[in-house]
Amino acid sequence: MQSFELLSQKFAIHFDKRHFPAEPATLYDPNEYFLKIGGKRIRPVLCLMGNELFEEIKEDAWHVGTAIELFHNFTLIHDDIMDKAPLRRGMETVHTKFGENTAILAGDVMLVAAYEELNKISVEYIQSILRLFNTTAKEVCEGQQMDMDFESMDTVSLDAYLKMIELKTSVALAASLQTGAILGGAGERNQHLLYDFGKKLGIAFQVQDDYLDAFGDPKKFGKQVGGDILANKKTFLLLHALETASPAQKKELQQLLANNSADKIEKVLTIYRDCKVDEWALTLKNKYLDEALAHLDDIAVLSKRKQPLKDLAQFLVKREH
Ligand code: IPE
Ligand code: IPE
Ligand code: MG
Ligand code: MG
Ligand code: MG
Repeated sequence: MQSFELLSQKFAIHFDKRHFPAEPATLYDPNEYFLKIGGKRIRPVLCLMGNELFEEIKEDAWHVGTAIELFHNFTLIHDDIMDKAPLRRGMETVHTKFGENTAILAGDVMLVAAYEELNKISVEYIQSILRLFNTTAKEVCEGQQMDMDFESMDTVSLDAYLKMIELKTSVALAASLQTGAILGGAGERNQHLLYDFGKKLGIAFQVQDDYLDAFGDPKKFGKQVGGDILANKKTFLLLHALETASPAQKKELQQLLANNSADKIEKVLTIYRDCKVDEWALTLKNKYLDEALAHLDDIAVLSKRKQPLKDLAQFLVKREH
């Protein structure tokens, strides 16, 4: 069994090459730029680890991992347009640097590149993996639309928020693991348990993402701190604050959401702190982490084989970027 650090290094080496042709440079250079500025490469590593949980890593897992990472980067390029985000991975976003139209097209062609990579896997697996990949890709779009729809709503329920983050984020982590399990020859039950582990872990991962968006260290975070606040994102932080704030604070919060004042981020953060949303973040993360680990426990393989996934889960919910 290889640790997640080792598999991350191996995948980084595998992925570190040109993925697009030289011309037209105005289309492909933005994609090369984006792939080179970093990224934790979590999803392909989940695929490799999902495979290795059951059997030695197959050649196909590198293709699937590459496809998943390309797909993920496509979603990020478009997400940054939708979220009007200036920064990612500590660098300018694609649309900020190269313009929105180019970013749309660069994302589109990145998605096609993901399918090209998938098409390299053996016929034995192509159908089951493509089915899972396509279902997941549609779910991500559904989650992203819900995320945008929520921006203009006054509030949403915690359940609606959880459904939205499950779709936009956690199914991709879950599917990455399941594709690996498929390649590793796992039975249906083990595949689904691993998927459910990924789904719960993905929720904890997005909770941490939302937490960092408000409370992250700007030097480490790599994205604009407070971006979700500016966009009126219905994160659990805001939902919890709206639920627990005093009537006066609640009124202030609603006014802050209605107008984009210069001190919006700072004032919303003060209310978040007063409402102890950071403590709530920890409670929520641990709940989903524990549920995730319970699914992992149920998988019928020797427990020592699960250690790398346990380590990765801990890393993901404590990450600072
Ligand atoms: C960011 O994903 C988008 C979310 C689903 C929260 P990552 O945090 O995995 O982004 P990179 O690839 O490491 O930059
Ligand atoms: C994005 O969620 C999820 C996808 C890209 C599918 P966020 O909008 O919270 O991700 P970041 O914070 O920009 O990375
Ligand atoms: Mg975003
Ligand atoms: Mg978004
Ligand atoms: Mg975010």
